[in-house]
Order: sequence, then C-alpha cells, then structure tokens
Amino acid sequence: MPLRGEKVTLRAVEWGDLPHFVDWLNDPEVNAHLMSNPLAGLEEQEQWYHDLQGTDERVLSVEAEDGRLIGNCGIIKLEWEDRRCSLWLAIGEKDVWDRGYGTDVVRTMLRYLFDEMDLNRVYLNVAEANARAIRAYEKCGFRKEGVMRKARFKNGRYENDVLMSILQEEWRDL
Ligand SMILES: CC(C)(COP(=O)(O)OP(=O)(O)OC[C@H]1O[C@@H](n2cnc3c(N)ncnc32)[C@H](O)[C@@H]1OP(=O)(O)O)[C@@H](O)C(=O)NCCC(=O)NCCS
Repeated sequence: MPLRGEKVTLRAVEWGDLPHFVDWLNDPEVNAHLMSNPLAGLEEQEQWYHDLQGTDERVLSVEAEDGRLIGNCGIIKLEWEDRRCSLWLAIGEKDVWDRGYGTDVVRTMLRYLFDEMDLNRVYLNVAEANARAIRAYEKCGFRKEGVMRKARFKNGRYENDVLMSILQEEWRDL
C-alpha cells in the first residue's frame, strides 16, 4: 500500500523505474554527496534491486502530486532488538529541488517508522557539505549527533560526515 505525504506518494518500485535510478546515480550533481557508485549501469542496478528481495531493506519510489517519478528512498540497517533503522533518499529530478519534496518524503517515512513500525530511533549519515540535505533533515526534527571525521573518500578527497538522528519521543513532541 503506498504511503501518502502532503505532496509525495511513496510506492513500490517498478522494474521500469530502474533506468531512472541509474540516470540519477550517474548525474554528478545528484551523486555529489551520495555514497553510491556513480558508474553503476542498469544491469548492476537490477542486480541490486533483485538482491534486496528477502532482506529487511526496503526501497520505495517517490512520486510527485502529478504522478511523476522524482526520486527514491529506502530503509536500511533495521534492528528490531534496538528498534532502530537508518534511512536514505534522493530526489533525482533536479528541477524539483528546494520545493519541499525531500522534507515531505522524510516526514512520510518517519510517520510510518514511528507510528506503524513503532521504532524508537531513526538515524542517518550525511556529508557535512550537503547543506541542503542537512537543512531538510533538521526541518523534520533530526538533530546532529556528531561529526565523523574524514569518513568518506569522494571527489578525490576525504570528507566529513554528520551523524543525525531523531527519537520517537522527539517526533511526538514536534
Ligand atoms: C537533499 C535532498 C533530498 C533535499 O530534497 P529537496 O526536495 O531538494 O529539499 P527541501 O525543499 O525539502 O528542503 C531543502 C531545504 O534546504 C534549503 N537549502 C537549499 N540549498 C541550501 C544550502 N546550500 N544551504 C542551506 N540550505 C539550503 C532550502 O531552501 C530548503 O529549506 P527551506 O524550506 O527552509 O527554504 C535532494 O535535494 C536530493 O536528493 N539531492 C541529491 C541527493 C542527496 O543529496 N540526497 C541526500 C543524501 S544524505
């Protein structure tokens, strides 16, 4: 069943979405702060999607109000004992950046993770240089926990990561 936000719909991935995922990954601006391999081709992407089946990881496609596919998002590192997981997202269509879609995706995912799955902690790593993403996460209630120094090697140099999280009680207080 799709998850509906104020602007976005998060729905199951269809096979025909995967070429778009590849285009986004190979777009230098979209990929600038992602951990994902920018040289991924369609076959690799299909294998990645295939390998996800039967695991705890979830990937969803993001649609705008008019049904246009604009991005994807996912849940990783789900740990039931500690009731926590990490999430990721990418709005791959750059012409809709800064229009609140990313924020709405995160809020929609948090609603599901806290209200439906009753998780206690949701966290993520974001490149310190990714000011747009950090702003979007802060708007959703994420707090910075610390800096992971030189945690990623990207564009020929080491970059810091910021660890951010939100707890269920903080989500309730918003
Ligand atoms: C990061 C991303 C998910 C954000 O989604 P989005 O739909 O563009 O973001 P939103 O419009 O919801 O929010 C962005 C906020 O950052 C602000 N912003 C944009 N550029 C900024 C900058 N350089 N510095 C500070 N804030 C910035 C926007 O003004 C907006 O805040 P506001 O609503 O208070 O004005 C999306 O741009 C994206 O997918 N980028 C490429 C992939 C990526 O980096 N994914 C995240 C990996 S952790």
